[in-house]
Amino acid sequence: MNTIALIGAQWGDEGKGKYIDILASSADYVVRATGGSNAGHTVVRGDKAYKLHLIPSGILYPDTVNIIGNGVVLDPQMVLAEMDELAAMGVKFDNLLIDLRAHIVLPYHKEFDELAEIAKGVNAIGTTKRGIGPCYADKCDRIGIRLVDLLDENTFAQKLKQNLQLKNKIITAVYGGKPLDYDEIYTEYCGYAKRLQPFARDTGALLYDAVKADKRVVFEGAQGTLLDLDSGTYPFVTSSHPITGGFCAGAGVGPTAIKECLGIAKSYTTRVGAGPFPTELDDEVGNHLRDVGHEYGVTTGRARRCGWLDTVILRLAVRINGLTALAINKLDPLTGLKTIKVAVGYELNGKILKDFPADISILERCTPIYEEFEGWTEDITACRRFEDLPKAAQRYVLAIEKLVDCPVTMIGVGPDKEQNIVR
Ligand code: IMP
Repeated sequence: MNTIALIGAQWGDEGKGKYIDILASSADYVVRATGGSNAGHTVVRGDKAYKLHLIPSGILYPDTVNIIGNGVVLDPQMVLAEMDELAAMGVKFDNLLIDLRAHIVLPYHKEFDELAEIAKGVNAIGTTKRGIGPCYADKCDRIGIRLVDLLDENTFAQKLKQNLQLKNKIITAVYGGKPLDYDEIYTEYCGYAKRLQPFARDTGALLYDAVKADKRVVFEGAQGTLLDLDSGTYPFVTSSHPITGGFCAGAGVGPTAIKECLGIAKSYTTRVGAGPFPTELDDEVGNHLRDVGHEYGVTTGRARRCGWLDTVILRLAVRINGLTALAINKLDPLTGLKTIKVAVGYELNGKILKDFPADISILERCTPIYEEFEGWTEDITACRRFEDLPKAAQRYVLAIEKLVDCPVTMIGVGPDKEQNIVR
């Protein structure tokens, strides 16, 4: 079997785009299965930077089939705008397929995302305001509108009417907002339906055949393990399952269809949005990592919170994703730091925690237990073999491998696809 899943091992923004691009270059199929337009990464080709949110990264390879699976929440306006932007850069969409079961993000989902965040006040999650949570909530409530529904004008009209009646009551009576107009949404979305029609398919069946035929399938992760609805820092999480298991439900494949699982972690930790972050650095080291690592979101432009690497998190990622290998990305921003710290456990009231706790109030109160490593000053961005790295950098990577019990097979030393060491 020739299949690989690529997963964010931290809170997202691990630089997965670069590794997806590396894997996509030899893929027959690239599949997105979770999340929506809350995701974002940039793929650089020569002097062109392609910004991707919903479209799978294999789109830049004309022979690769790109699938948006049933587990994705699809914002038609966003995906079509993204396609228009990419088309203007010469990208073709002959090989794009969108699953009929994918749920559609509607204007009331985005409205609810905004209003619910405001209502939460100091407890706001810091969402991307893309309507992700409300769309998944409707899916679970079994009132969602799927692509297959959108493509049938009568079904769409009936479902939209029914939903909007309820949503408008909540918007006006609960949140004191303005009701949304049925005709406006109906007309706008019927226009989107016409444009999306050619891409709509039952992609699960197609993927089954692809796996059977030993095609190279890359499952492209979005967000990261700690944002998982079940295993992450709930409630400061996203509303999907950005873990290996999420690919099964979200792409309609069985677990045995995924042979390898590559986790991507940065050599330090970042997070956007609210929620506990034990190794966060509110000092000049944190500022250094943000500046040198360009830690600002592709989707929202928000500055990311930065901190030391946390192996408690990575052990969780290895465990729940069944990682077979780990890529340590962005080793280069650590260059120049005299000492580098790594959290190996947490301490709370004299007790040592080795595993990631279920209760986030523990995370807020615990103190990380750090191991310290000697830094390096040499520029590592031109290193292409492990042996080329300064000895201190080699020791750092080997220590991570041991602490998380997973082989580190790739190391990123710069933003370009070529700035990567394979072990
Ligand atoms: P939502 O996914 O927009 O509902 O946001 C929920 C949480 O997930 C917030 O803390 C977001 O900042 C975070 N989040 C969602 N997508 C991403 C991502 O692609 N990278 C990093 N954080 C994300």
